Amino acid sequence: MVDQTFTLGGVRFQNRVFVASGTFGYGDEVLDLSEVGKLGGIVTKSITLKPRTGNRPRRIVETAGGMLNSIGLANIGVERFLERLPGLLELGTKIIVNIAGSTFGEYVEVLSRLEEGEGIAAYELNVSCPNVKEGGLEFGTDPHAVETITKSARERTRRPIIVKLTPNVTRIGETARAAEAGGADAVSAINTLVGMSVNRADRTSRLGTVTGGLSGPAIKPVALAKVRECTMAVKIPVIGIGGITTADDALEFIIVGAAAVQVGTASFAEPNAAACIAGGIASYCERNGIASVEALVGSLQIPAPPRLQT
Ligand code: SIN
Repeated sequence: MVDQTFTLGGVRFQNRVFVASGTFGYGDEVLDLSEVGKLGGIVTKSITLKPRTGNRPRRIVETAGGMLNSIGLANIGVERFLERLPGLLELGTKIIVNIAGSTFGEYVEVLSRLEEGEGIAAYELNVSCPNVKEGGLEFGTDPHAVETITKSARERTRRPIIVKLTPNVTRIGETARAAEAGGADAVSAINTLVGMSVNRADRTSRLGTVTGGLSGPAIKPVALAKVRECTMAVKIPVIGIGGITTADDALEFIIVGAAAVQVGTASFAEPNAAACIAGGIASYCERNGIASVEALVGSLQIPAPPRLQT
């Protein structure tokens, strides 16, 4: 048996493959489609203080090797989420609640309310949504804001905190360090890249909000490089996200240094993708005589540059 477990802030997950926020709703919509019991956990759609209807349509566009979204953090709000929580805790996997806010105070209010709910495994702070006017990238591109939000959350919970970082910065290592300084247990990287799709026929953007966030296989090489930068900047675990569709993709992130991975866009085409990826990682380890996935984390080999003959 390969040891696939992953421990974060004292919470033990059965494996290192999670479904990313926004791809499984709150978890209970996909029960007929996916073997959720085989996941490390479900990261919920972002929860805000009040319900949000989200952005005007069109909110999703397919692109070459990817998908643009501009959902605008549509969600049921923390009170209705708490009503649903007992049912989610019976799904047979761990629930990580993703929290978003338009102000620093909103993150704290949502988290404080969630603290009253039993059974939540961890929080993921979304400081990186590219589709909202207030909060979102405004916070995620500012290391000081990232540190402040994380610190305020840290002061109010003993549950593990993951901070989800944006790739839309020059140096993601700086925001990763800010999250670590604020007391995060892990960072997850990357959220989507700001992108556009244009309809030549009527010269309009295909998205209602003009720009959106690009995800899917098209962003995997960017995500790998950003994950590597994060792992070099911080000591806390980095959770890799970005175009992971197969176990081979996930293994690349783990080799680069990701302690765990989240599967996002691939779940729309194949809701069982993340569960299959968890199985595929275990099979790879078995075939290669690797007893624990941990042994693969950060095992990237970088050959020394050739010596110049003088
Ligand atoms: C959205 O709701 O617009 C996407 C969420 C995100 O990218 O964080």
